[in-house]
Amino acid sequence: MKWVFINDDFFEEDKAAIQISDLSLQRGYGVFDFFRTVNNKPLFIEDYLNRFYQSAKAIFITVPLEREQLKEVVFKLTEKNNLPESGIRITATGGYSPDGYMPVEGNIIIQQQPLKLPPKEKYENGMKIITHEYVRDLPAVKSINYLMGVWLQKEVKEKQADDVLYYKNNVISEFPRSNIFIVNNNGELLTPASNILAGITRKKVLELAKDVMPVTARDIGTNELMNAVEVFMTSTTKRLLPIVEIDGKKIGDGKPGKITARLYELFLKMEQKETAPAAAGA
Ligand SMILES: Cc1ncc(COP(=O)(O)O)c(C=O)c1O
Repeated sequence: MKWVFINDDFFEEDKAAIQISDLSLQRGYGVFDFFRTVNNKPLFIEDYLNRFYQSAKAIFITVPLEREQLKEVVFKLTEKNNLPESGIRITATGGYSPDGYMPVEGNIIIQQQPLKLPPKEKYENGMKIITHEYVRDLPAVKSINYLMGVWLQKEVKEKQADDVLYYKNNVISEFPRSNIFIVNNNGELLTPASNILAGITRKKVLELAKDVMPVTARDIGTNELMNAVEVFMTSTTKRLLPIVEIDGKKIGDGKPGKITARLYELFLKMEQKETAPAAAGA
């Protein structure tokens, strides 16, 4: 049996509930964040909590728990559930708005679920993606609203792709749930700087890559994307995944690239260092 935390107490998962008048259900208004535990230790928790509170503030949601209290709840939840390799989702909703429109103090929900990363073949063979012209509303906010991403699932499946990349006016931004990087033929690593969610995996990759090659965050045109030598995506649930085909066209030699593999190895090392059992009590 799994435990869930809502506002001020732990509940068994099948008894955990909030009322239907919440703005999250009525208007899709709320924010969340999602991080992994490795060896029972939350990975990069400070970065995720920074983003969570920033998202809430940006859309006028008051989180009913202070940061230190929230952290304590996360640690208690990991003890109670004992799911060493998991995903933890923290959601803050728009709350029980008297007029059904204006956000008030939100409900906070903290859930934990077992998590499996993509199978080895995805890392070895790479991903095929399609593109779609769109920018998320308030892209810097990790909103609970994935209307376009979920709606596009049908097209992604029909085109036998793995994911869909957003672009607007010939400038690329991100995937519904991941960021994008390219390596160009000058050996530079580039990632979009605007109309994106600042991914935590993206942040770590930018830090790691600085010691390997020139790195720049700036606007990237769709032409530049199609002519890239390597392309990869980053997210909490995927780490780094190579992309080998975009809208039916092969990228580079059509195989996962060496720089992607090198950065993936560096990311794994960083993750292991952060979550080594010896560091668990630190
Ligand atoms: C819109 C969007 N962009 C990018 C990301 C990747 O961010 P992270 O590396 O923090 O998972 C996510 C994560 O879910 C996302 O929802």
